[in-house]
Amino acid sequence: MSDSADSTVTCHPGCTGSRNAVGPALVQPLIRKLAATEAPLHAAHLLRLGEHDRAMRFMGCVTDAHIARYCRDAGRNERCVLAYFEEGVVRGVAETVFDARPAWLGGCELALSVESGHQGRGIGTELMRRAIVLARNRGAAPVRILFLRENRRMRALALRFGMTLAVSGTEIEASLRPQWPNPFTLLAENLGDGHAWWSRWLAGRAASAKRAAHA
Ligand SMILES: CC(C)(COP(=O)(O)OP(=O)(O)OC[C@H]1O[C@@H](n2cnc3c(N)ncnc32)[C@H](O)[C@@H]1OP(=O)(O)O)[C@@H](O)C(=O)NCCC(=O)NCCS
Repeated sequence: MSDSADSTVTCHPGCTGSRNAVGPALVQPLIRKLAATEAPLHAAHLLRLGEHDRAMRFMGCVTDAHIARYCRDAGRNERCVLAYFEEGVVRGVAETVFDARPAWLGGCELALSVESGHQGRGIGTELMRRAIVLARNRGAAPVRILFLRENRRMRALALRFGMTLAVSGTEIEASLRPQWPNPFTLLAENLGDGHAWWSRWLAGRAASAKRAAHA
């Protein structure tokens, strides 16, 4: 999928410290959908994950080459990658892979990742909230997340969203059947897409003006 971003902001991931604090950010953080051509941004983010986070994300050790291949081949599946940008760099991702096309014929699997310096600020929560809205707007059910039993942070997140946990050996499958979409969930996604489009346009204009000033 290649359209752009999502919705109402309920947290302020650009601020450090308390989740509810509102503080100035030099460049506003942004969550938007990545285009298929932006797979290298996704790969670069996954490659920046620390060893432990990488193992949690892929449920085992994977090499850099595996990640590069994974992102390169990603376009073969019906998926949507929501990326959290800070100062133009992807620092968090919620990747939704749909089981069927059209999406409402099946469920979807969600995978989350936030780089270590950015964790604990509500970014994972906001990415997950938006990914669930996205799945809901496409009628995909259930939404599943697979993670290792030791992954306490992911477990806390899944429970916060009311997911049901099924433990199997060292793994947990969290699942949720989102409600049907409504005009508000559709509007939230569309407003977010619009906001992302304007943000990118404004950033482009600012960059051109800067270049012109230095010419
Ligand atoms: C899971 C992950 C995406 C969460 O991202 P995040 O931005 O840190 O998430 P949030 O800041 O929204 O915090 C989520 C919740 O985790 C819980 N949490 C935070 N730190 C924790 C810790 N050390 N132990 C247990 N739970 C913890 C809290 O409930 C927290 O919410 P709260 O503090 O507001 O109550 C991130 O830790 C990550 O990328 N991990 C590696 C990849 C991974 O495990 N992916 C999941 C499998 S696909």
